[in-house]
Amino acid sequence: MMLVVSYGGSIIAPENIDTEFIRDVADYLKSVEDRIYIVVGGGETARKYIEKGRAMDANESLLDEIGILATRMNAYLLICALGSEAYPRVAESINEAITAEHRFVVMGGTIPGHTTDAVSALLAERLGAKKLLLATSVDGVYTDDPKSDRNAKKIKELKAKELVSIVAKNSARAGAKSVVDLLGARIIERSNMECWVFDGKNLEDLRRALKDDKEGFTGSIVH
Ligand code: UTP
Repeated sequence: MMLVVSYGGSIIAPENIDTEFIRDVADYLKSVEDRIYIVVGGGETARKYIEKGRAMDANESLLDEIGILATRMNAYLLICALGSEAYPRVAESINEAITAEHRFVVMGGTIPGHTTDAVSALLAERLGAKKLLLATSVDGVYTDDPKSDRNAKKIKELKAKELVSIVAKNSARAGAKSVVDLLGARIIERSNMECWVFDGKNLEDLRRALKDDKEGFTGSIVH
């Protein structure tokens, strides 16, 4: 089977990059038989550099270019941890990723204007992957942003259509973050792929998602 795993930057690259954690993630990925494509976000690496550029009045697409480089730096750390089974450079486009022949292919961002959520959904769609795993900073899909709304409730299973409307509602509010960007949610909806959303720090949920083990999985499943 072929899987796409999207690692939010806040998981792979928080303020202090935790190499032990990256190694643990790589070991879990190596423990399954599948071919795995991993998309890595920018995290603090991106935030730090984008802030400096914004302070110099750069326009948003130029800042996106900086963000893309940050995602690629983080992606290289995962390549270091995966070792010789990984395509030895960060794939810079979906076309490059799908033509690579290694068991693991790692990529970051591609072009300005979207985030790595959209990249991972587009990659999964292009590959015809059965499943997209979203390892994020929240432990599932909530009715509202759980970081700002204490009444937000986790939804264990939902339709992609519901995901799109939740994300559209959240992203309309300035500064609000959602588990996946709107473009990513729309791609998930149109391609009918199954999507498992979970707390990226929870390696047990990563294991369950990789092994298709719904029993005990504490995140959300979108179908
Ligand atoms: P992320 O995918 O990490 O975006 O890319 P994010 O949603 O801001 O952060 P997470 O999800 O919490 O990790 C970091 C930045 O890189 C640029 C955007 O500016 C994005 O905010 N980027 C990334 C692109 O312009 N294109 C891409 O394909 C990916």
